[in-house]
Amino acid sequence: MGNKKIHIITFGCQMNVHDTERMKMIMKHEGYDWSESPDEADLILLNTCSVREGPENKVHSQLGRLKPLKESNKELLFGVTGCVAQQKGEELIKQISYLDLVVGTDAISSLPDVVKKVKESGKAVVQTEFQEREEYQFVEIDTDYNFSKFSDFVTIMKGCNKRCSYCIVPYVRGREISRPVDAILKEIEMMAERGVKEITLLGQTVNSYKYNGVDFASLLHKINEINGIERVRFTSPHPKYFTESVMDAISELDKVMEHIHYPLQSGSNDVLKHMRRQYNSELYLSQIEYMKNKMPQLEITTDIIVGYPTETATDFEETLKVMKIVEFDNSFSFLYSPRPMTPIYDMEDPIPEDEKKERLYKLKELQEEISKSRTSKLIGSIQEVLIEEENDGRDKNQFSGRSRGNRKVFIDDITGYKLGDIVNVKIISGSVHALKGEIVSPK
Ligand code: 5AD
Ligand code: SF4
Repeated sequence: MGNKKIHIITFGCQMNVHDTERMKMIMKHEGYDWSESPDEADLILLNTCSVREGPENKVHSQLGRLKPLKESNKELLFGVTGCVAQQKGEELIKQISYLDLVVGTDAISSLPDVVKKVKESGKAVVQTEFQEREEYQFVEIDTDYNFSKFSDFVTIMKGCNKRCSYCIVPYVRGREISRPVDAILKEIEMMAERGVKEITLLGQTVNSYKYNGVDFASLLHKINEINGIERVRFTSPHPKYFTESVMDAISELDKVMEHIHYPLQSGSNDVLKHMRRQYNSELYLSQIEYMKNKMPQLEITTDIIVGYPTETATDFEETLKVMKIVEFDNSFSFLYSPRPMTPIYDMEDPIPEDEKKERLYKLKELQEEISKSRTSKLIGSIQEVLIEEENDGRDKNQFSGRSRGNRKVFIDDITGYKLGDIVNVKIISGSVHALKGEIVSPK
């Protein structure tokens, strides 16, 4: 009999993408090979997101779509992992009769045990307990396990100690715990040995990292010393911990890329205060100014919530104002979505739906204009690109990678170079989402 097969469908953020990889690795030890399609899998997991209602609802529609597979294969196991698993636990089993397991965000390592228990008992199993700080173990990556060839994620902390009024994350990801420095450095060294060139440090508020006196800035300094690693990124920083030493490290360390994903959420101080964001627009803007003075080529992307229950038309204008000052390269904007467990879940929401949608439309229109203008400034410039992928083109294959500023760059011809090389590319055209260019020289 051949190996068993696992298929995981991932929703949400990079944290979840990385958790999926870790679950693949853990289940490989148990004899489960990866299956590209759910049709051939013996175990199908939905690694879920509950940050807004939209992604949460996808769990139910996706499971419904997969249900026929279960009817044709009685051995097949269905599981829900990630944030919705943590949020709903037992309730999911009650709602979805054909679900076999629910594994929360702290319980990834117990996945093999849970699968065994389900098989032995023939009953659904739920594991959603948070681990205490003293017991919490970060999943260590096997020395021979390749997540991705040239660019990979490294978890440096888990959970979140902030209590932003709208956000469910602290309740589904638990308290913040920083991973030991040595384990982080060891993992990155191991990745470098396998040929990884770029790493992205992951944490809910990544720059609040602190372990035995090592803060985020000193961690960046240590990582910058690792031979073989050429590029360092991180996501997402919180303005409260964007200290001068963090900003100086970003601008001074050659391997730290000139891109930050810097969630603003709102440009209005009244709204920020109600959101309990712990900064105001003046602080945010002064940090951006400090960084741009040191790194004029810095690219900045952001997250913005539109239609927060207390957001007035004037508050919204404040957000547009900040957007115009910062000139974000791109922004991810979301309509406010009330989330269970959060302090403002039940709050009255006086803004009419049409008004919210109009605001969102306006914001997206402004962003498009800014993005276009930012992109046009890159045409003709030389951008350093890590060639990461070969993509199927219509007539011939194309290659793609990312610039230091995190723009996707397409290249038609890489003759003389190979995947994993870092090259200088002259940009010949571009849209909001991608640039196109030709290689002019090695890095
Ligand atoms: N409603 C809308 N957007 C939200 N986000 C987080 N919680 C909510 C919510 N309740 C957005 C924030 C965050 C991003 C990941 O999702 O902008 O930065
Ligand atoms: Fe979604 Fe947030 Fe959970 Fe990531 S941490 S999966 S964005 S709810």
